[in-house]
Amino acid sequence: MSKVTIDNITDTVIASLGQNGDVTERQRDIMTALLKHLHGFCKDVNLQHNEFIDACMFLARAGAVCDDKRQEFILLGDILGVEVLVDMLSNPIEGTESESTVLGPFYRENPPVLPKGASTVQTHFDNEESVHFEGHVRDASGAPISGVTIDVWEDAPNGLYENHDNDQADYNLRGRFETDENGHYAFRAVRPVPYPIPDNETAGELLRFMGHHPNRPGHMHFILSKDGYRTLVSQIYDADSAYLDNDSVFAVKESLVAKFNKAPDGIDTDLHVDFDFVLKAQAADQSIAAE
Ligand SMILES: [Fe+2]
Repeated sequence: MSKVTIDNITDTVIASLGQNGDVTERQRDIMTALLKHLHGFCKDVNLQHNEFIDACMFLARAGAVCDDKRQEFILLGDILGVEVLVDMLSNPIEGTESESTVLGPFYRENPPVLPKGASTVQTHFDNEESVHFEGHVRDASGAPISGVTIDVWEDAPNGLYENHDNDQADYNLRGRFETDENGHYAFRAVRPVPYPIPDNETAGELLRFMGHHPNRPGHMHFILSKDGYRTLVSQIYDADSAYLDNDSVFAVKESLVAKFNKAPDGIDTDLHVDFDFVLKAQAADQSIAAE
């Protein structure tokens, strides 16, 4: 029997992989890297046993919080910048295509299908600012793409998504639109406002442990999809919003920041946003990994 030491424990565990059952090459790669990083982390911080137990209890509390409305581990991944990192690894930018960013926890399937130019607003707020969003969706060559399905969703002027607010109509501020023959989309909504991600339970513990606030800058969520193109999950950020430079989930990309300008004559909303998207051609179907 070999003698386990601080110096050989990592190699010993790695050497054990697959000894009592088949492991794929991917499983071996993942576990080898995980063991190297995890053991290295323990050594780097000289992790003590009481701290190991604290971490185990933290994860147990996180698991207990999870239900069909709250996925605590994704939230913890967001706070650690892991979801945005994984998104960038999954959707590398190789040309002029628009940047993606995190889906977030508030997407709902099957939003109301609305005609071009319609409003997503069902429940009004005294402090709302109406916004006309429009733009074109094109391919890498600049050709317009018609028939692109565009799902949009956002928080209300009180900082809450409708599915977390009993005072809003079902599917308020959500809609599904389609680009016309010129690749043009348009819809009316309200100016999104900053809101805090859930900061109670273990997410709040982690935020406080890191010395972070929970807030996100105002943003409109988008999913653009059409067969033959890579599905784009993204957000448009309000250039004048607070927290643009210190988003609690690190999801802001400079290319996704847009100015909410005063609406020009002929458009009867308070504000106007003109934002174009470029989709990347892709042969295979791609499904969204919902949170
Ligand atoms: Fe959001």
